[in-house]
Amino acid sequence: MLSLVTLTVQNSAMVLILRYSRTLTGPSYLPTTAVLLAELLKLFLSVLLYAANTPWPSASALAAMLPRAVFSDRWYLLAVPAILYTTQNNLQYQAVSRLDAATFAVTYQLKILTTALCSVWLLKRSLSPAKWTALVVLTAGVALVSVPSSSSSTSGGASSSTEPSAAVIAAEALATHTRLQGLACVILACLISGLAGVYFEMILKGSKTSLWIRNVQLALFSLVPALFSVFFVDGARVSAEGFFVGYTGWTWAAILIQALGGLIVSLVVKYADNILKGFATSVSILLSSVTSVFLFDFELSLYFTLGASLVMAATYLYGRPDPAPKTPLPSFRDENGDTPTRSWSMTFGRGM
Ligand code: C5P
Repeated sequence: MLSLVTLTVQNSAMVLILRYSRTLTGPSYLPTTAVLLAELLKLFLSVLLYAANTPWPSASALAAMLPRAVFSDRWYLLAVPAILYTTQNNLQYQAVSRLDAATFAVTYQLKILTTALCSVWLLKRSLSPAKWTALVVLTAGVALVSVPSSSSSTSGGASSSTEPSAAVIAAEALATHTRLQGLACVILACLISGLAGVYFEMILKGSKTSLWIRNVQLALFSLVPALFSVFFVDGARVSAEGFFVGYTGWTWAAILIQALGGLIVSLVVKYADNILKGFATSVSILLSSVTSVFLFDFELSLYFTLGASLVMAATYLYGRPDPAPKTPLPSFRDENGDTPTRSWSMTFGRGM
């Protein structure tokens, strides 16, 4: 519960800080560099948390233990979620630069749909008719939120007697284009989120390896695609203007909250699961939408309000337990040949 509540607060703050950091005037910072620094920070924090949760007699003993622990238990499997998550994190910055915070937060809830589909596909989970209904309602809600609110808010032909100028038409076309790009980034990020989340849950719950070691493995692998993105996407700007071009205090806040968010997500996946994670983040929609009204003068249109209500109702419906018995995870077996279950009591009992 603690990890879920923390995730809700972190998620709302992250959407707002990411959006705010991208809308400041002046040169904008390079998202690829922010993703790289967040991965470095996660690596550092995961090593610290591993050291804090492991008995070690001396610093040299720890230094000897760490590489052995990191390069064990099919560490190479983490390359898959590392590539997926790094791509997703870059897409997140692209999306939040093109969409307002509230629209981003709600459309990003399509993660629940992609996570559910990946759970059915990879974990062979079956979904009850109520859950499928919830997923259809969720998709309808997201579609409603994605409808752009008309600039002339009154309907019924009494809008404006003067023809809009060419400049206004061009500006509206550009805004629509930018919004569509943002929506495409969100949809792609959701697809990746579902796949990466379920894959990470399979690896984490399929063995007894410490959560922090899994996070070190993930962060180490993530450095490779993150560096690749800096060089190949923003290499020209980095060499011309520097790595830290456009950095402000808000950029550092975005990096910090993204890194902390990653660690909280891993705790949620360990102690709850990916579907409950979706439930927690949907509550954050309400927080980010209401805060957007005050911070960014965001207007709650009818479509937005209706769509967001459907998303919340769907999330609630999805989060309700089914009467059917839970099936064990048909995932990896650990080194002792045990197949762990996903029950709360089992995972709560284990150490990290
Ligand atoms: O939006 P979603 O919940 O899919 O985002 C997951 C986020 O958590 C990503 O930013 C990913 O990099 C991060 N993460 C992490 N460590 C994990 C699992 C996820 O940093 N073990």
